[in-house]
Formats: sequence, C-alpha cells, structure tokens
Amino acid sequence: MADDIKAVPTEVIPVDPRQPEAAVIERAAALLRAGELVVFPTETVYGLGGDALREEAARRIFAAKGRPLTDPLIVHIAQIEELERVAAAVPERARRLAEAFWPGPLTLILPRGEHVPRLVTAGLETVAVRMPSHPVAQALIRAAGTPIAAPSANRFKHVSPTTAQHALADLNGRVPLILDGGPTTVGVESTVVDLCAAVPRILRPGGTSLEALRQVLPEVEPPQPPRASQPEHEEGEAQRAPGQLLVHYSPTVPLFLFEGEDQAQRTAIVADALQRLERGERVGILAASEDVETLRPCEERGALVRAPASLEEPEKVAAALFATLRELEAAAVDVILCRSFRPVGLGLAVQDRLRRAAGGRIIRVDPSATAAEEVR
Ligand code: TXA
Ligand code: MG
Repeated sequence: MADDIKAVPTEVIPVDPRQPEAAVIERAAALLRAGELVVFPTETVYGLGGDALREEAARRIFAAKGRPLTDPLIVHIAQIEELERVAAAVPERARRLAEAFWPGPLTLILPRGEHVPRLVTAGLETVAVRMPSHPVAQALIRAAGTPIAAPSANRFKHVSPTTAQHALADLNGRVPLILDGGPTTVGVESTVVDLCAAVPRILRPGGTSLEALRQVLPEVEPPQPPRASQPEHEEGEAQRAPGQLLVHYSPTVPLFLFEGEDQAQRTAIVADALQRLERGERVGILAASEDVETLRPCEERGALVRAPASLEEPEKVAAALFATLRELEAAAVDVILCRSFRPVGLGLAVQDRLRRAAGGRIIRVDPSATAAEEVR
C-alpha cells in the first residue's frame, strides 16, 4: 500500500494508568478534538484513536496504520448512554451483554447510527461499539467529548501492541502522541459479537470468554474457523467477515504452531529445534511452564525459550502473548516454534491469534506417529 504519510515527531508521555493526570488527558483530548490521532492504552491492547464522527480522522487512522479501507474500525464510548449516538438501534440482547460486560473487553456489532461516517465502518451498515474499562481510555473519551474510533495501534498485519514501546516501534513518525500507561492487562483484543445476525455469533474471540457470554446469552455461537484462503474482495466492498483474514496477527518471523497431545508436542518441538540449531538457525520457542524441563537441551544449545505461564492459566498466557512474540522477533530469531494452548476461557483467543500468526504453518503431532506431519 502507498505510504503517503507525512512524518511527524512522535511524543511519548507517561500517564498514571489508575488515576490519569488531568493535564495529560486534556492535551491528548485537544488533539482528538482537532481531528488528530492519539495512541492510548486500553485494558486489551493499545488503540490508535481518532474522532469517530469525523471522516478526516478515520482517514488518518487508516493511513497511519497502513490498513486497507475495507477493514472497519471499532467505535469506543465511555458511557452506555452514548450507545444511541453511534448505533441506530440497540436490540435487547445487545443491552443485556452491554450491561453485563461493559466497561470491558467486549465489542458489539450493531446497526450503524447515521452520524458515524461510512469510512469508519468500511461501507457497512453496521458499526462495532465497545466501552473500554481502562481509566485512561475512559478519561480520554470523556474529555474529547466524542466517541473515539480506534483500531489496535500496530501497523497492518503486525502483532497488536500491549505496551507504548510496541506502538512506538510500529507508528513512530506517524502519530503525534502516544500515552504510555504501562503494559495492558488483558493482552488480547476484545471479543467481537455480531448482534445483527439472526443468531448472535462471535466474529473474533478475545478478552471476554465464550463461557462468560453464554451465562448471559446462552445462544451465542462460537467463532467460525478462519478460512485458509480469503478471496480478494472487490474494490470498495467490505469483507463479509472483516478481520477474519487467516494471516492477520503475524510476527515478522515465521511461526510454526504445534498442536496435539502435550507430551507429543514437546517431543516434536525438541526434535525440530535441535535440527534447526544444528543447522545454525536461531530458534525462539514459545512454551508453557510445564514444558521448560523438556526444553532444557534446546536452551543449552542456544534456543531462546519463553514460557510466560502455566497451561492452567490461559489469562496469564493471553496477557503475555503479544509481548513475547515481539520479544522473540526483536531478538532476531529465524523461526518461532510454538506450543498450542487449550481453547478454554481466554485460551480460545490465544488459539485464534496463534493460528493466525502461524498462517497455515500448523504441525499436528500424532502421539503414535514417529515423525511430525506438516499440514497445510
Ligand atoms: O480490544 C480491541 O478491540 C482493540 C482496542 C484498541 O479497543 N481494538 C481492536 O481494533 O482490536 P481492530 O481494528 O484491530 O479490530 C477490530 C475488529 C476487526 O476484526 C474488524 O474487522 C471488526 O472488529 N469489525 C469492526 N467493525 C465491524 C463490523 N461493522 N462488522 C464486523 N466486524 C467489524
Ligand atoms: Mg488489530
């Protein structure tokens, strides 16, 4: 995509994530009111925000991210009353989810309100709305006095940022201001639920689990598995399931995802890593704390092993996932070998992001097989 962005100096300002300083928030809000962009923390990932009711701000967001105009943005609000400003209708089911999970990591797809420019929704007659719980996001939206459109603050197709430094690495010179509120807590993006379909369905698993959603709306459908190839969509036409490109959350290094029984995964990862190390490759391994002992021989031969949490703690895995991928990337490894995590709770979002990051490089290991079989 053409890179027609004019370079601007990017300022990074620290902000207290619990009690954001009024002067800092006011400075950021003034930029937003002027149609400019601000990167800010949410509880999920950092967002690249602009006034959701101004087309020029949305245009700037797409340009700064290098994102195609066919991928719609999420509109962030600070209070439930603002829902009517951006959505044309709020079905009862939507209201129940909002009351149960807002503020928090849940995005609702609703009929688009007339004041939301079509550029924001990529031409769709629906709009994605979310009310973040992060005090900085809350304060900023209130001070700006307008809903804020914000995709994740990464360059298109890169891993989402969970720290201000990640956002700076991707957007330096492309935004005037980044608010640094420290690492985000949830670590994966919000769950997107379509409430415009006959049956509510998860379009993107995220920080609100399917299990939790079903306690409020038992009929919520799980996400459909991503398609291996996405047909080119026509000029100007939004994707039917936007954001569902298989290759979406990609580290810049090839990632191989191992799936199968735990011990079989470990054995396959060790075998693959040792071969690669033998050939002189730099190997990064994303594992669970239960794997560390088995991976010791790889570590001793120079592999970078990162095990951010236990298999029993999907929330911790989610919180550390993107930062770990970026860390391995920054360490200039040639390849990342990754174990899989069970799709329970936030594990469903972790599985989704890892499968996308692998982009088809999924190795299904069969406990009875002697060699790992690569499935395309
Ligand atoms: O946690 C989050 O949701 C973060 C923070 C910053 O709030 N934002 C985020 O935005 O992840 P983004 O733009 O990276 O992802 C938005 C997702 C995409 O999958 C997009 O296609 C989908 O929401 N989406 C937006 N509008 C939609 C619509 N009208 N219909 C269906 N999907 C939509
Ligand atoms: Mg994103």
